[in-house]
Amino acid sequence: MTIKTILRYPDPRLHQVAAPVAEVNDVIRELVRDMAETMYAAPGIGLAATQIDVHQRVVVIDVSESRDQLQVFINPEIVLSEGEPTVHEEGCLSVPGIFDTVERPARVRVRALNLDGQGFECDAEGLLAVCLQHEIDHLNGKVFVQHLSRLKQSRIRSKLLKQERDAA
Ligand code: NI
Repeated sequence: MTIKTILRYPDPRLHQVAAPVAEVNDVIRELVRDMAETMYAAPGIGLAATQIDVHQRVVVIDVSESRDQLQVFINPEIVLSEGEPTVHEEGCLSVPGIFDTVERPARVRVRALNLDGQGFECDAEGLLAVCLQHEIDHLNGKVFVQHLSRLKQSRIRSKLLKQERDAA
């Protein structure tokens, strides 16, 4: 297992659309192990393959307090969204130090493959629903700040670019 480097907004590679996984094989299982290790080390509650510059449709999530309930979603698809749109404060490992509210459907049903390549469905609400929508956005090349106003986006972009320059 390896801790991978997480791409930071506004890196253009975060806007690449990920391709579906054709076969759940050992390469994908190793990718999932690396993603889980990278997410736990960060620490974060979710990570999309896009964020480590692998453009395949794979997401790992752990929203448990105990940090031992890893959930893996390969080729995840939202098949149902419902409920009053709900506002939640979001952050992202690719946008360090930035938190802002995003409105999303309260409940989603996601269809995906597991590590054995078998299909399953997951009905999610609360934090898991937010996290799934946030991570699936990543696979579609969308970072959560793109749900914010253009003004906020440009402020966040400048702030992160400055941090990068100061760190260099
Ligand atoms: Ni994110």
